[in-house]
Amino acid sequence: MDSELSLWLCSMCSVFCLMFFSFTLLFSLFSLLILVLRMKVWCNCEICQAFLTSSWNEEFDNLSDWYTHLLKKSPTGTIHIHVLGNIITANPENVEHILKTRFENYPKGKPFSALLGDLLGRGIFNVDGDSWKFQRKMASLELGSISIRMHAFDIVRSEIHSRLIPLLSSVSGKEQVLDLQDVFRRFSFDIICKFSFGLDPGCLNLSLPISEFAEAFDLASKLSAQRAVASSPLIWKVKRLLNLGTEKQLKEAIKMVDEFAQEMINQRREKGFSDSNDLLSRFMGTINDEKYLRDIVISFLLAGRDTVASGLTSFFWLLSQHPEVESAIRDELERFMGTSSDQQFASFDQMREMHYLHAALYESLRLFPPVQFDSKFAQEDDILPDGTFVRIGTRVTYHPYAMGRMDRVWGSDCLEYKPERWLKNGRYIPENPYKFPVFQAGQRVCLGKEMALVDMKCVVLAIIRRYSIRIADPNQAPRFAPGLTATVRGGLPILVQERGA
Ligand code: HEM
Repeated sequence: MDSELSLWLCSMCSVFCLMFFSFTLLFSLFSLLILVLRMKVWCNCEICQAFLTSSWNEEFDNLSDWYTHLLKKSPTGTIHIHVLGNIITANPENVEHILKTRFENYPKGKPFSALLGDLLGRGIFNVDGDSWKFQRKMASLELGSISIRMHAFDIVRSEIHSRLIPLLSSVSGKEQVLDLQDVFRRFSFDIICKFSFGLDPGCLNLSLPISEFAEAFDLASKLSAQRAVASSPLIWKVKRLLNLGTEKQLKEAIKMVDEFAQEMINQRREKGFSDSNDLLSRFMGTINDEKYLRDIVISFLLAGRDTVASGLTSFFWLLSQHPEVESAIRDELERFMGTSSDQQFASFDQMREMHYLHAALYESLRLFPPVQFDSKFAQEDDILPDGTFVRIGTRVTYHPYAMGRMDRVWGSDCLEYKPERWLKNGRYIPENPYKFPVFQAGQRVCLGKEMALVDMKCVVLAIIRRYSIRIADPNQAPRFAPGLTATVRGGLPILVQERGA
């Protein structure tokens, strides 16, 4: 009987293995077929061939640099990657058209919301129409309120005081290399979690602990973004259906994020939320649907986490190349805050008067925007101001990274880091937002812009005032890894020295 059972089990195993391999084989053939169809049928133009054969990466480090090169060569500042159905533009008039004039014709669209849908659900980042309008209105009210702004400011100051400064002091003068990008990612994760959930993950504690939530969240964002580079959405959709490979990993990571978010919601309900200032508590007053609440705060986590860390990392790399800018910021800081260490943090009013600091940050975001490009999908046929025809369903991408590198947008010195570009008689002068869509622009402009700038200014002032930061390898320019937000491959290794020590 036993041997019959094991024989039966053996044959069942073989059947399953056979089925599994047949599925995998079918799936691979299917992916290959799609690729071949695209190569042979859809387009043989030089750009598409360079894309499909990846020959572009013989000359360029990443896609954004290649696109920049193509956009500079294009007389209109617009290109079309036919095999991706993607029109990419670095033309400010087109950007204004997409983000403002014909906003209704360029929603995020279904293809985008499908990519991030499993992670973000119906959160603001991932929806259009009424659901977006509702969340936008509520979130604008909350983020605009003085109490929320003060709450965010307190969170930032406390994270700097109790974690960032002790960490930097602990390595100061020790020839111990610290990855500044990692430090900023931990810093901004702590902040955005405290702000969104009222929870402190303690990622920037002195021991630099591993947070399971942060890891699961990172993995889920990374794998969701990777879906976009599949040669056809069918590939990841089939993988998801069969629960294979990266899709299986993604599902597990999202499950962890969900459990964590649910736990936060439960805790908030138990403790009471009416007098708390975190976003979750604020939204709980109006929304009862637990899944919807989860989606709303997870969108904020994604929006506010890596963007601030990315902006700060590039800024400190640029400062290392431009000591004259660092000295100018320090002069301004001393002019407003004095030289004694009595005042630990600049006030809101003092920061508002620091025009050079503001210009230095904007100039850094111009050259290294945390969100290098952003796409919409055309609802109807359209013609862009530069004459480009857009067929219904086409993906249309504006490219802040390329725009910062275009002579025709910023002049022949566009590649230089020059905060003075933003100043007139020492005062910051805003630019046309469609020339600088780093925070997007128009109806869907970033809701966390002011908060992000305050965070960044507080960190820059706190560090510059106390420490000299030396980049471990000053000759290494940042090389970006693909993803939703620009991250530097290999991080930013630094050495820290307390000033005056
Ligand atoms: C330097 C930092 C930041 C940059 C460069 C930035 C940039 C952007 C960009 C480009 C978008 C448009 C994305 C899209 O529609 O696909 C966006 C949207 C958004 N950002 Fe930011 N962001 C930053 C920080 C923050 C922070 C700290 C928060 C949260 C507190 C935040 C909250 C949001 C939200 C909620 C949206 C969605 C707005 C909407 O769809 O109506 N951002 N941001």
